[in-house]
Amino acid sequence: MSAKFQRLDQRYFDARKELSKRVGTRELWSLIDQWPLYCGIANLGRYLAVSDILRQTLEVPGDVVEFGSWRGANLMLLAKLLRIFDPHGCKRVHCFDSFKGLTEFAPEDGQATQFSGLYKGALDELKAVIELYELQDEIEIHQGVIESSLPPFIEAQKEASFSFIYCDTDLYKSTKLILELLHPRLSKHGVFVFDEWNYKDYPGETVAAKEFLETYGDKYEVMHVRHARQPTMYLRKLSY
Ligand SMILES: C[S@@+](CC[C@H](N)C(=O)[O-])C[C@H]1O[C@@H](n2cnc3c(N)ncnc32)[C@H](O)[C@@H]1O
Repeated sequence: MSAKFQRLDQRYFDARKELSKRVGTRELWSLIDQWPLYCGIANLGRYLAVSDILRQTLEVPGDVVEFGSWRGANLMLLAKLLRIFDPHGCKRVHCFDSFKGLTEFAPEDGQATQFSGLYKGALDELKAVIELYELQDEIEIHQGVIESSLPPFIEAQKEASFSFIYCDTDLYKSTKLILELLHPRLSKHGVFVFDEWNYKDYPGETVAAKEFLETYGDKYEVMHVRHARQPTMYLRKLSY
């Protein structure tokens, strides 16, 4: 996290702890229905940024995919946005995750090993929420370590192409593989979005993206996201 936000965030975390003590527990659905009342500004900026980038790709052929979904917040955001902005389209939303948290480290991930096991998912809860919003026909979950699940998927789905690829595993090996295998499948004007670009705690994702750009940099435009802390960078494909 940037030092710019450290003091601000600490104040916010302390104040919201105080507030939740004062307010007490609330019914889950009452919180959900009034989510802008409670949602932090950084989180809101993130979701708006994701929405803006996704909307730029609605005319691009191919599916949407998120690598690394944790409890499924961003995955559900993508699927719900497609329901709103592309209600008659046939884009699917793929989710690749082991649901075991961070486990697959490489030397390029540096100190990120201290977060081993973080972001363990809750697949049953995610499936229940998917059913609640009747999104089971749009969302396809590929459970497993990406290094094992992605190559056979790509091999079996020779026709599959993508318009929007969200890289959020935080780690080097999976990001490197995703970029290598999906570059040929990303449609022109499609995007690779990086949740941890230039992010100190998880250097591996940035290292993988930089290595990819050394080879394929002339085929992509490097785009900065202005109003979010994460994601802050995406690659827009210019040519094959
Ligand atoms: C930071 S969390 C994702 C957060 C989520 N995109 C969100 O916005 O709420 C990282 C996720 O990546 C998954 N992950 C990390 N490395 C993986 C790998 N090699 N294979 C499969 N899943 C992996 C973890 O299980 C975890 O759910």
